[in-house]
Amino acid sequence: MNYHVSALIGVPWGDEGKGKIVDLLAKNFNGVVRFQGGANAGHTVVINEKKTILHLIPSGILHPHTYNVMGNGMVIDFLTLKEEMDTLSAAGINFANRFYMSDQAHVIFPWHRIIDTLKSKGSLGTTGRGIGQAYEEKMRRTGIRVGDFSERAYLQERFDAQYASAVAYLQSECNSVEVVLDLLQNKMRDEKTGAHLGRFFSEQCWLDKEKIFKEYVEIAEQLQQYICDTVALLHKALQRGEKILLEGAQGTFLDVDHGMYPFVTSSNTITGGASAGTGLPPQYLTEIWGVFKAYTTRVGHGPFPTEQDNLGGELLRKIGDEYGATTGRPRRCGWFDAVLAKRAVLINGITDVALTKLDVLSYVDRIPVCTAYEKEDGTLLESFPKPYQFQQIKPHYELLPGWKTDVSHCRNFADLPENAQKYVKRIEEITSVPIKIISVGPAREQTIFR
Ligand code: IMP
Repeated sequence: MNYHVSALIGVPWGDEGKGKIVDLLAKNFNGVVRFQGGANAGHTVVINEKKTILHLIPSGILHPHTYNVMGNGMVIDFLTLKEEMDTLSAAGINFANRFYMSDQAHVIFPWHRIIDTLKSKGSLGTTGRGIGQAYEEKMRRTGIRVGDFSERAYLQERFDAQYASAVAYLQSECNSVEVVLDLLQNKMRDEKTGAHLGRFFSEQCWLDKEKIFKEYVEIAEQLQQYICDTVALLHKALQRGEKILLEGAQGTFLDVDHGMYPFVTSSNTITGGASAGTGLPPQYLTEIWGVFKAYTTRVGHGPFPTEQDNLGGELLRKIGDEYGATTGRPRRCGWFDAVLAKRAVLINGITDVALTKLDVLSYVDRIPVCTAYEKEDGTLLESFPKPYQFQQIKPHYELLPGWKTDVSHCRNFADLPENAQKYVKRIEEITSVPIKIISVGPAREQTIFR
């Protein structure tokens, strides 16, 4: 039997507009599944001019005909999930019998977020969502999984151990609880977080163990109806002939193995991660969408060869509205990097591309596309650079003529100005994959299908 499983992967560093593309593709699928990461993602979907940012719940949730699954590879912050579900429920979204979470996914606790924020100051520039800390626990085998909440004694034992090690770490790193409280009040990246997590801290006990345990158990009870063996669920769905879309978060070069280590997230963001994070074997994946932005952005630290740390980059940021959906941080901006795109095609096995934000480039006279990297002696680099070599290379650009006209109203490829068509075709030619979707604005209808 042929199974229909597709994956959708960001290239290169996330924020390509995956939320919109999943939303567009969702009509062809029965199920949409997240397979890695957690609330570090921010998938934006705009419907009827209303913007919804999803951090944890798959972007298919806005399509009533789909079921949505949070797979075993995810790390789930119960507090954020509850908030996200409450917001969507208030907007009329129904969860019953169409939302599921894996009993094997790991749980993020308040201490993971605090320690992430403490550790990431000035170094990696993480989102502060506790992602790396929860995956650390998973790999150290001290993690707590969603399903553990139904085994109270087992849960209590693991919870006590995690709590003790977190408090010991906090006490060794911060001289007093004031330092933690200051961190919560002034340095957490999103405004709400301080208040959100602050209630678990006090002068008397640093971290209120009983309060956290009680609240998490209560949330787990409310979520009980959605928690299940999602591996069995997905396999049964495929046997019924249903179609499943695996929604990647972050991007190829934030992958913990294939990204620019150590400036990466803590999960496998590539197609390979989709299999491990869902329990669906690799050979079931027949269609792999790569989502490229027509230029490049990055949040957080790390190499970025085509970055325009100048007025040009500022203009891209302003016109492209490039501010993080999760943290609000201004994104670093630069030109399209075909070296990264080609590498991503190889690593992920990309079969189809969605090119987003083409409209943003409408103001540029001549558009640089990086086709190779140059060494310091001016010769071209033959192999893909090691992370530390990125400081020694510079991009080699091809200049493509701009189109200097608004394309946000175009709905067919033929409607695009000739130079915009040439830009799309050139990227196709360099990367050797067909660009099947072109997005020319945030709304669903601002899309060209080829
Ligand atoms: P973490 O995933 O919060 O640990 O952050 C690790 C790196 O990945 C940082 O540079 C973040 O800015 C980046 N990152 C994490 N999630 C996203 C995302 O969804 N979009 C873009 N960058 C991300």
